[in-house]
Amino acid sequence: MVRPRVIALDGPSAAGKGTLARRLAEHYDLAHLDTGSLYRAVGRRILRDGRDPKDTKYAAEVAASLQPVDLTDPELRSEATSQSSSIVAAIPAVRANLLAWQREFAKNPPPGKQGVILDGRDIGTVICPDADVKLFVTASLEARAERRFRELQAAGANPIRRAVLDEMASRDKRDSERATAPLLPAPGAFVLDTSALDVDAAFDSIVAFIESTTRPRRA
Ligand code: CDP
Repeated sequence: MVRPRVIALDGPSAAGKGTLARRLAEHYDLAHLDTGSLYRAVGRRILRDGRDPKDTKYAAEVAASLQPVDLTDPELRSEATSQSSSIVAAIPAVRANLLAWQREFAKNPPPGKQGVILDGRDIGTVICPDADVKLFVTASLEARAERRFRELQAAGANPIRRAVLDEMASRDKRDSERATAPLLPAPGAFVLDTSALDVDAAFDSIVAFIESTTRPRRA
């Protein structure tokens, strides 16, 4: 079996990145970093402090002083945090302050792991442009909004379908149109549209791609 050392997995919200990253991490024995949680932690702390996510100076300070406990905030995945995280994610100083930490994780995996998978928006383009494998997982806005709607329902919430779609569209727009590290497939990335694929089919297709393109690595 090939053993990639660094896998970069990018794509928009609810395209299936999280589930695929966890499965690939298990399959190839890699440490997984969900980089969205870093931006979420910054966005959440700003809201908790009663500050404006557009306040660039404050957002940069929060990003520079992020603590592990910030990643455990129970509101990390709320819709308010989602929107706030994508506002702070457009601030260059916030991205700069989170960059070194992500690269360090990629370079020096936690003990017991020989490699890493990072999922996010700019892993293949900015954080790990030399990754062994670059993946871009996407799906239509309608398919992704429907998935998020069902996730919210399964979690016991009472979401409004149209609002879920509108909020996702506004985050897509902000993430794709920002000047710094916009959401984009990296050159040479394997682009997979999961609109009509279940998780197993998407996983199999990615593994087939990796097996066909990655050179075996000596342990
Ligand atoms: O869970 P979901 O896919 O909806 O979002 P996420 O991956 O947790 O990311 C939350 C927000 O963080 C995104 O909307 C982006 O604005 C930002 N983000 C980013 O800019 N760069 C990354 N590498 C990861 C996330």
